[in-house]
Order: sequence, then C-alpha cells, then structure tokens
Amino acid sequence: MIGTDTGLAAAHLKSGETVGIPTETVYGLAANAFNEAAVVSVFEIKNRPFFDPLILHVRNIGHAETLVKEFPESARQLAEAFWPGPLTLLLPKNDIVPDIITSGSLLVAVRVPSHPVTLELLHKVDFPLAAPSANPFGYISPTQAEHVDKQLGEKVSYILDGGSSEIGLESTIINCSGERPVIVRLGGLAKERIEEVLGYAIELHLNQNSNPTAPGQLDKHYAPNSRFIVSDNLEESINRHLHEHIVVLSFGEIKIAEDIYQLNLSKTGDLSEAARNLFHYMRLLDQLSPSIIIAQRLPDFGLGLAINDRLRRASSR
Ligand code: TXA
Ligand code: MG
Repeated sequence: MIGTDTGLAAAHLKSGETVGIPTETVYGLAANAFNEAAVVSVFEIKNRPFFDPLILHVRNIGHAETLVKEFPESARQLAEAFWPGPLTLLLPKNDIVPDIITSGSLLVAVRVPSHPVTLELLHKVDFPLAAPSANPFGYISPTQAEHVDKQLGEKVSYILDGGSSEIGLESTIINCSGERPVIVRLGGLAKERIEEVLGYAIELHLNQNSNPTAPGQLDKHYAPNSRFIVSDNLEESINRHLHEHIVVLSFGEIKIAEDIYQLNLSKTGDLSEAARNLFHYMRLLDQLSPSIIIAQRLPDFGLGLAINDRLRRASSR
C-alpha cells in the first residue's frame, strides 16, 4: 500500500515489518536495524546476498554517535557540513550494531537523510533504520514510490510516498576510519564540494572489478535488462547499430535522427537535472525492451563523475 502516513509507517516498523521510504537520493527499503528477523527480510525481499552490508539511517549526529566507537574530526566536519543530506560515513561500529548489518565488518555505514517525510519518521521511532535502495538486487534504483510498488510492492507492508527523489543518485560514501577520509562510492554529493570543506584533495578508492567485500560496488549493478552501452560519440555508435532497435539516453544539445527514440537527461546540460532524471529514464527506456540502449557519457566532473560511474556499471555484463 502507498500512503503518506508516517505514524502508520512507524507502527509497521515497530512490529518488525519492512517499509519503503523516500529519501532525497533514492527510495529505501527500511527495517528496524535492531530487529534481526526484520533485517533478514530486507535481504530476502531484495534478493540481496548477506555479504552486502546495509546503511543505517538516523535522525541526527547525536543518534549516529550512539552507533560508533569514535567520530573522528574529519567525520564531524563532513557531518556538520552535509547532514542531513546525501552523504554516508563509514565509521568503526560499536557493539550495539548487529553483525548482520555490516556483514561482519568492523565498520558501519551511517547517514542522516534530508527528506522531510523520512526525517519525521525517524523522529517517531527510537531505532536506526537499516535501508538499502528499494530495488531488486542489481537492478536500477527507485526514485519514485511507484517504482518501489511495481517491483517490491507485494512484499512490503507500506510504502511512504514522498514524491520524486530530489537528487536521484545514491549517497556518496566516505570511509572516515583511516588517517584521511576516502571516497568509496561516488554519489549525490559531488567530490568538489567535499574537498571545499576538507581543504584538500580526497582520494577515490572505488572497486572497478567484482569484489565480494563491497558488492554494492560490483561492476554489474544499476543494470537494466536490455543491453546497455555508454558512448563518447553518439552518432558513430548509432550508425554502428542502425539495423537494431536502438533507444538513446542523451545529454545537452544534441541532434540525432528523428526516428530514433531518445530521452534527454538535461537539454541545458545541467548535471543536477541529469542526476534527477537518470534512473527514471533508464527505467522508461528499459521498459521499451529495445535491443540496445545507447547512453551518452557525461562530462567527468561534479555529479557527472557519479552519473558516469552508474552508466559504466549499467553497461557491465
Ligand atoms: O542514498 C543511499 O545511500 C540509499 C538511500 C536509501 O539511503 N541507500 C543505498 O543503499 O544506496 P544500498 O544498500 O543500495 O547501497 C549501500 C552501499 C553498498 O554498496 C554497500 O556495500 C555499502 O553501501 N556499505 C554499506 N555498509 C557498508 C560497510 N559497513 N562497509 C562497506 N560498505 C558498506
Ligand atoms: Mg543499491
């Protein structure tokens, strides 16, 4: 059932059920992080392997502090600058965080989402919400309540509708447990904004291959069912596949043959608009069951970096 009643959502969560929640990044599939059976059902509903850990969602920094052994200065600086918002911090977990949440790792992922509906919900429960993106494992992340309903609806007690996700890309994940913070997943908070706050260049440690220690970073991820390729030259790629049923995901001012169906992420070349449209447009194109989706690569800065990361993983077989 889809609705807007945060009190009802809280009641479902308290009785150990799962609830779809809106966030500014993507929709999540939430459960009481301290209820092991509820957390197990999140993995089962998503068909997600147990070695892929979950992010904990909390209402503020104080609540996050109750879950970790230490909150280093760099983490505090980032949390104060960007929470609530599209930033997840990896910190040393303390004993109250169940091992199933972290897949046995000593680090826990925590974030304070900024969506007002989910913040309201977080004030109505006294536990953190474990919430992965609310898509079947490996498929495109949901940015609307309808996306969740279509794919997981029957298996979820309630879906809180908070409209379309404003950012449209998952949170940026930063490991703050070492000497210097490191980005381990590109996302809705641009690298440049993080560097402005830290005052120095931050390194990226993204998994480029299949790596069971951080499966959300698996090469094949965010993947449509249709074949998906990323192109630096749309015209050339289209010409190469002209005899097939092509659809195109384009960006900026671009002209292609009128008989080829295309969705443009942002005609004005706005990266935030592109991020907001990305997963929805990937879904719409996939629903046409074309033989190939050809996506134009975006500029490699700001949110373009994270969008290109998603395009690359979507194209991986
Ligand atoms: O924006 C987001 O982060 C969304 C919304 C719902 O908050 N959530 C999300 O969750 O993207 P999920 O499960 O789809 O992706 C979480 C990623 C996975 O790649 C997982 O491997 C990584 O975070 N992760 C979670 N806990 C971790 C940990 N303890 N150590 C390393 N990686 C972790
Ligand atoms: Mg996900």
